[in-house]
Amino acid sequence: MGTALITGASAGLGAEFAWQLAAEHTDVVLVARNAARLEELAGKIRNTLGTSAEALPADLANPVDLARVAERLRSESSPIGLLVNNAGFGLGQDFVGGDLERELNALDVMVRAPLVLSHAAAGAMAARGAGAIINVSSLTSLTAQGTYSAHKAWLRTFSEGLAAELGPRGVHVTAVTPGLIRTEFHERSHVDASQWPGFVFAEPETVVAAALDAARAGRVITTPTPLYKVASAALRAMPRALVRRVAGPSLSGRN
Ligand SMILES: NC(=O)c1ccc[n+]([C@@H]2O[C@H](COP(=O)([O-])OP(=O)(O)OC[C@H]3O[C@@H](n4cnc5c(N)ncnc54)[C@H](OP(=O)(O)O)[C@@H]3O)[C@@H](O)[C@H]2O)c1
Repeated sequence: MGTALITGASAGLGAEFAWQLAAEHTDVVLVARNAARLEELAGKIRNTLGTSAEALPADLANPVDLARVAERLRSESSPIGLLVNNAGFGLGQDFVGGDLERELNALDVMVRAPLVLSHAAAGAMAARGAGAIINVSSLTSLTAQGTYSAHKAWLRTFSEGLAAELGPRGVHVTAVTPGLIRTEFHERSHVDASQWPGFVFAEPETVVAAALDAARAGRVITTPTPLYKVASAALRAMPRALVRRVAGPSLSGRN
């Protein structure tokens, strides 16, 4: 796949994308805010697998940092063959009465950043006639859990349009819509993950392997693991009024 640039690579799914891609001899560029964690991961990947791993610390909500990452995606001397738009977080608050700055920050990280980075990557990849973009959406894109659902629905729909536009130019776009995964996500979102039985959590290894398989196969939308494939089919079949009742804000599991 050429060099891969992965956002949100300091933890969870992003770090797993880095390991699995590096294990198949893909050089990786790691983006997130925590520079120390990125450097540590890049060092481990280089030492363990011998693959090139570059840390590119950036806060994707910061326009200057975001422009720097977009510039890296446009590089002709060291081209990026795969962009993984993965960085994201749960807001951990209701919309009404919640902090507006946190809302805007979430919009910047989960909508504005994938848009800006996809624009940079798509231009460079289409010019070369090859490349791939993986957008980490969520099963929540089919539910009614506040602005997080809206951001993930935007990313899924955006991916479909981009896939149609870029497909004929040799660039594949895949949206991944996983259910619950065992990462730092819930702790960071102030959600007590112990309220759900263990079997509902997919492991990052499984989700990332499924995402990479789907991207290689040129699939536009993929929901990893059988449990969430069934959940996805059910959510699509249900009347939206029922979805709002059973999969609205109360499903977020916030403390
Ligand atoms: N875990 C789940 O149950 C689940 C389910 C469906 C979808 N997802 C989606 O999967 C993606 C990955 O989440 P995860 O589960 O791996 O969560 P995680 O373990 O909390 O990792 C989130 C990553 O995003 C990065 N990030 C957050 N804000 C950022 C910012 N402003 N700029 C740059 N990077 C930022 C974090 O790094 P720094 O803190 O170092 O910046 C971290 O590397 C997210 O888009 C999430 O919405 C997760």
